Amino acid sequence: MPSLTPVAETRSALERRTAWVSGASSGLGHAVVALLLAEGYDVWGTARDLGRLSSWSGDPRFHAVALDLRDPAGAEAAFLAAQRAAGGAFTVCVQNAGFGEFGAFAAADAGVWEDAVAALLLSTARLSRLAVQGFATRPPGRGTLVHVSSLAVEFPLPLMSGYNVAKAGLSALSESLIVECRGTAVTVIDFRPGDTRTPFNQAMRATAALDHAREQRIWARLERNLAEGPSPETVAHDLIRALRRGRSGVVRSGSFFQARLGPLLARLAPGGLRRWVLAQYFGVH
Ligand SMILES: NC(=O)c1ccc[n+]([C@@H]2O[C@H](COP(=O)([O-])OP(=O)(O)OC[C@H]3O[C@@H](n4cnc5c(N)ncnc54)[C@H](OP(=O)(O)O)[C@@H]3O)[C@@H](O)[C@H]2O)c1
Repeated sequence: MPSLTPVAETRSALERRTAWVSGASSGLGHAVVALLLAEGYDVWGTARDLGRLSSWSGDPRFHAVALDLRDPAGAEAAFLAAQRAAGGAFTVCVQNAGFGEFGAFAAADAGVWEDAVAALLLSTARLSRLAVQGFATRPPGRGTLVHVSSLAVEFPLPLMSGYNVAKAGLSALSESLIVECRGTAVTVIDFRPGDTRTPFNQAMRATAALDHAREQRIWARLERNLAEGPSPETVAHDLIRALRRGRSGVVRSGSFFQARLGPLLARLAPGGLRRWVLAQYFGVH
């Protein structure tokens, strides 16, 4: 005989708001988790090393998940287990985990370059597919998918070609899903932060020796930009506001110059001028 779930229990299960946040141990992901917990979400947050998620070890609404995007099968298994524990689908899925690699395209080992693109783009896409499949299992098929992309999609970062390619791919995936999910209850947000004051650069690997003055000048500029950027908490607030609005689309966040003025001028200016300004900005000469 089938067991009947009491109505009250069914309702509370539907009302429970659950979120997946990859890359919860640091920077932007850490700030997003704090805000989602404050909003009343149960959060499944990830890191490669669970010891890096100790901020919330006493909070029963935080669930630590080990996830490494360089291991796609393991990442899928970790996501599915978390999704099951969350009741079959997340209310919100924030694909935030990421890292950078720095070095000239031609100097980098092809395998190292491809592995980074695969982890940042293809592994993330695998998890996004599972998330959207999860949304469909719960009537009315509602859910919000966030890809944390980057303003690097519009202003490629010098000597970070793999990162630029992966983020451009992620934004293209967002755009594809925004169109594909029209008329459904699925919301897709392509979130593009500008430089944000996180440990992102500290975690960055060099793919080749940085022995040229030009490379060191560019690196110094990247360091300065990050140090002068808004705090991860400020950027996380922009993401939470976008979640509250509940509309699919591109959401930029960052300084007025990077996130507002830059994209506007870039749309109006010819490509050659845009690239010249970008090169001056980063000291590429
Ligand atoms: N900071 C910026 O200026 C900026 C600008 C635009 C976009 N973004 C994007 O924002 C996101 C968060 O970056 P952040 O600035 O907050 O940097 P961060 O402080 O270095 O945080 C990166 C997060 O990603 C996780 N991570 C790194 N490599 C991973 C891997 N192989 N598998 C799974 N997780 C991994 C890290 O976790 P563990 O190391 O603990 O595993 C950490 O939680 C990234 O997608 C980044 O591209 C950042």
